[in-house]
Amino acid sequence: MSELIVLTCASGKQCSHLVPLLYDESMYKLRLVVNSTASSERLQKQYPKAEVVQANLDFPQDCARILEGATVIYYIGPPFTWKETYYGINVVDAAVSESKKPGSKFAHFVFSSVLHPELTKLLNHDRKRYVEEHLTESMLPYTILQPSHFTDNAIGQLVAQKDVDHPVFKAPHSAQTAFSFTSLHDYAEASAKVIQERSKHFYATYQLVSTLPMKYTEYIKSIGEAMGKDVEIQEVPYEQSVGNFCERMFGSRDDVPQTLRDGPERLVLYYNHRGLYSNPNILEWLIGRTGSSPADVAKRYLQR
Ligand SMILES: NC(=O)c1ccc[n+]([C@@H]2O[C@H](COP(=O)([O-])OP(=O)(O)OC[C@H]3O[C@@H](n4cnc5c(N)ncnc54)[C@H](OP(=O)(O)O)[C@@H]3O)[C@@H](O)[C@H]2O)c1
Repeated sequence: MSELIVLTCASGKQCSHLVPLLYDESMYKLRLVVNSTASSERLQKQYPKAEVVQANLDFPQDCARILEGATVIYYIGPPFTWKETYYGINVVDAAVSESKKPGSKFAHFVFSSVLHPELTKLLNHDRKRYVEEHLTESMLPYTILQPSHFTDNAIGQLVAQKDVDHPVFKAPHSAQTAFSFTSLHDYAEASAKVIQERSKHFYATYQLVSTLPMKYTEYIKSIGEAMGKDVEIQEVPYEQSVGNFCERMFGSRDDVPQTLRDGPERLVLYYNHRGLYSNPNILEWLIGRTGSSPADVAKRYLQR
């Protein structure tokens, strides 16, 4: 009988790369968890063999429902909500209850966290730190995956300008800041491996990045080279950049509660001076090849 793999934030960026890697495996049945009706309808059309479930991770009863009969949960937390820690704790608690049911098939909790959850100045990192702690202390068989800033974040904006004479990148923070980038494609491959190989990865925490630290200027240059273009970088002023984030994440620039605005405000401030550093060795060991450069990722987008 096939095993039930539950994936949260199934309509999001990470799952758009991960779900296709698991969907055709006959040993798995997928339960794709979303919040909105629009995402539910879209995924039902895209993945007719999967079960698509609407849930609000704020509600413990919804978390219990998504875990019913599950063998594995691949847990991604919704971004930039002050409730992120509560959501994660709700899901861990639901997994513990599921694992204690008579005849339970529950076997693995995979948490897609973030690189350096110990960075308390970044709320979107700090909020995951408590989820990691709760999961570690739950005594469930777990694996924690820590991706960095996704390589793909700026690529859509740039590839859309492939036929423009002078493409421009609007940098949301200082372009001198360096990051290790994680390609969504590489990260999905590593995540699928962890799900498939299961017990080999129990109780491990992996930093998963595709590149050594590189300045944003170098990152944009590498994408520009794949497009055959010189890209001009324009840094967006702080207040405007926070407004852009809020508009993208919450649908409004100004009419956003401070509890939500806190996340983007801290992020832009932090990234103006400090980036996220790691080393691609662990990712390369997992996927058995070199991590993708920004140019590799851009070429994939251009070929689509
Ligand atoms: N962007 C980066 O560079 C980066 C890097 C490392 C880690 N991360 C982390 O990645 C996570 C987000 O993953 P993603 O980028 O794949 O997602 P995403 O594209 O931002 O999509 C957000 C997802 O959250 C779901 N959602 C929102 N509110 C919900 C709720 N109350 N209950 C259940 N689901 C809810 C949405 O469902 P609907 O579509 O139905 O609304 C959607 O699937 C965040 O924790 C973020 O910190 C991001």
